[in-house]
Amino acid sequence: MCEPKWKKRLLAVLVLCFVVQSSLVYSDERHEPLSEEALAGRALWHRHACQTCHQFYGQGGFLGPDLTNAASRVDSTRLASLLKVGSGQMPALALADAEIAELSAFLGAMDRPEIGRGQLRLGSEGQGGLQAGFETAVAERLPEAGAAAAAGFDLVRTRVCSACHYPFRASPVGAPDLSTATSRLTADSLDLVLTSGRPLKGMPPPIPPLAPDERAAIAAYLAFLAAERDELDARMQALAGDRRFDWRDLPWWEFP
Ligand code: HEC
Ligand code: HEC
Repeated sequence: MCEPKWKKRLLAVLVLCFVVQSSLVYSDERHEPLSEEALAGRALWHRHACQTCHQFYGQGGFLGPDLTNAASRVDSTRLASLLKVGSGQMPALALADAEIAELSAFLGAMDRPEIGRGQLRLGSEGQGGLQAGFETAVAERLPEAGAAAAAGFDLVRTRVCSACHYPFRASPVGAPDLSTATSRLTADSLDLVLTSGRPLKGMPPPIPPLAPDERAAIAAYLAFLAAERDELDARMQALAGDRRFDWRDLPWWEFP
């Protein structure tokens, strides 16, 4: 039923699509090319199928953690130990030192805090820019707030509370705005949430548990957020305005 003439036209259209798609992908100039070392690391990433267990920007397997920002989180000693002897369900890959350096360069190239913190799977578009703007706005004002609030900010960041709690608004998973928590909760009930969570309502107990001084630091940070709420919110919106998250900024073809 298909005349040869039509087959030819169809083929021509498909070839054209391929050419346009390739030129769009490869002419994109948003990305620094990877260094030699990072490219070698990417080859190892593929050879050892790290992606089957790990994610970048929420994409990949889910047995291990998201590695988008692993470079800023995992120090070189721990990375070397993970890649030599493994840990828990992470297999012992017995990699050589040179290979570890290459993977480290690759993870470093993938770590782009300015376009998101590897939490896109829970966030909506725009969240990357908002979260980055929020963290910058807080960091600007923290020096006046005292050491306890600064320690609390660090904890909230490293314990990835922001995977569920968004700045100055409720998140899609129902986690409330933490800057208004101190107006809703007494000091004791805040301490209780930070100790045992509210597992039935979607707030997991922090693991490992937060020590009393860590809970006090988070309380100090939340008090700071409440006091500075309006200024921080305005500053964050201004900062996020020029950093709207754009899916095209993700270096997709660097990691599949
Ligand atoms: C079979 C699944 C699996 C594979 C394959 C795998 N990992 Fe893992 N990886 C894990 C698990 C599970 C953890 C968490 C281990 C723990 O915390 O004890 C982990 C932890 C890590 C961490 C530490 C992350 C953090 O935030 O603490 C890094 C870095 C890492 N893996 C890198 C790699 C790289 C690079 C490869 C490929 C060379 C790889 N992994 C292959 C399962 C895997
Ligand atoms: C998996 C998602 C998730 C993570 C991670 C998470 N929370 Fe929550 N959190 C929630 C949800 C959902 C609620 C609302 C529970 C309810 O309705 O009572 C909540 C409630 C809270 C409350 C009580 C707020 C109020 O006004 O009642 C505080 C305080 C809190 N979380 C702090 C934290 C801190 C600090 C962290 C990081 C250590 C954290 N959360 C991590 C989901 C999460």
